[in-house]
Amino acid sequence: MDEARHYTNFGPLVRELESRLRQRFASHTEHQMYVTTVSNATLGIELTLNSLNLPAGSPVLVPALTFVATITAVIRAGYVPVVADIDPDNWLLTPEIAAAAVKATGARAAVVVATFGYPQDTKRWSEFQKQTGVRIVIDAAAAFGNQWVDAADVPVVFSMHATKSLPAGEGGFIVSGDASINMLVCQKSNFGINLTPDAGVPVGYLSSAGTNAKLSEFHAAVALASLDSWDEQAIQRQRLYQRYRAVLEKTCGEVLTWQTGPAPTAPTSFCLRLGSEAARTNLETLCQEQGIATRRWYQPLLHRHAPEIGKIVVLPVPDAEKVATDLIGLPFFLNMSDTQIELVATAVQRAVSHTPSLHQTT
Ligand SMILES: Cc1ncc(COP(=O)(O)O)c(C=O)c1O
Repeated sequence: MDEARHYTNFGPLVRELESRLRQRFASHTEHQMYVTTVSNATLGIELTLNSLNLPAGSPVLVPALTFVATITAVIRAGYVPVVADIDPDNWLLTPEIAAAAVKATGARAAVVVATFGYPQDTKRWSEFQKQTGVRIVIDAAAAFGNQWVDAADVPVVFSMHATKSLPAGEGGFIVSGDASINMLVCQKSNFGINLTPDAGVPVGYLSSAGTNAKLSEFHAAVALASLDSWDEQAIQRQRLYQRYRAVLEKTCGEVLTWQTGPAPTAPTSFCLRLGSEAARTNLETLCQEQGIATRRWYQPLLHRHAPEIGKIVVLPVPDAEKVATDLIGLPFFLNMSDTQIELVATAVQRAVSHTPSLHQTT
């Protein structure tokens, strides 16, 4: 960077990263691929939504169970979020659920989430988009390695946050087969300054009110290093996930429920349902006493946040509410030892069998 005197503004490392990612996604599909880096996935979703040019205030579907960034991006893009339900088994917003929600609300777009890294079927969503005219953006923030982009007309946004499988500290990128979407996102990430001679606005003039969402060369350097070790780390993640899950299934398999779908290639979290709200509270207490961190991922559900976030439309979400009662994220990190897995499994076993907390027994 010092030699090139290039620290940001679409420097050589950002270009190299985009090119390597493009090749990676292109090797999984027959259509042309475009990759545009951004400073984080939240802005990536916001700018991708902006590039759809929907009328201000258009209703946009989001699943009730997702990270808050999904809904803040919709609001900041100038649209009205419509909170929809999820499938009770794969915990995803599906085309069937979306079809009913569109009918009920007239939604013009949907931000469809690859929840906990479980992939969405881009070809099915492309069909849905063609049939309904509802524009689809996939929030695959946590799904790099699990989510591919098989349909050219469905843009997919990935995160490179430190907690993701391709970490750069902060960062994100948009993958699509539609050059115009990627060009618009790139332009909007650079304040909205027009970069194309034939756009009807002179090059260098603002063509829209964009923002600064460029990925720096520093972050691109870290992302390139992450990419170099990605395959090896993905194998370690898979092995850890499988070992961990097998131990839990052996100790208390009959009461636990797992998200259904293809086995994750590069898992970064470890989520499951404990069968009851009481078991979850019990496990949280047991873990707290032993210094084991747990997370109620994506809770509260989107519509249960403060009304100050702005106007939102809420559809009935009984399945999301059900999943939210006993969903828990357990510790998951590279080099987690068998002893640490056993420690967590013992706590889960005690919690689901409603054994009183350690504190109460000692
Ligand atoms: C589903 C989902 N969407 C969006 C984001 C936001 O990504 P970023 O931190 O890169 O803005 C996350 C981050 O965890 C996420 O899980």
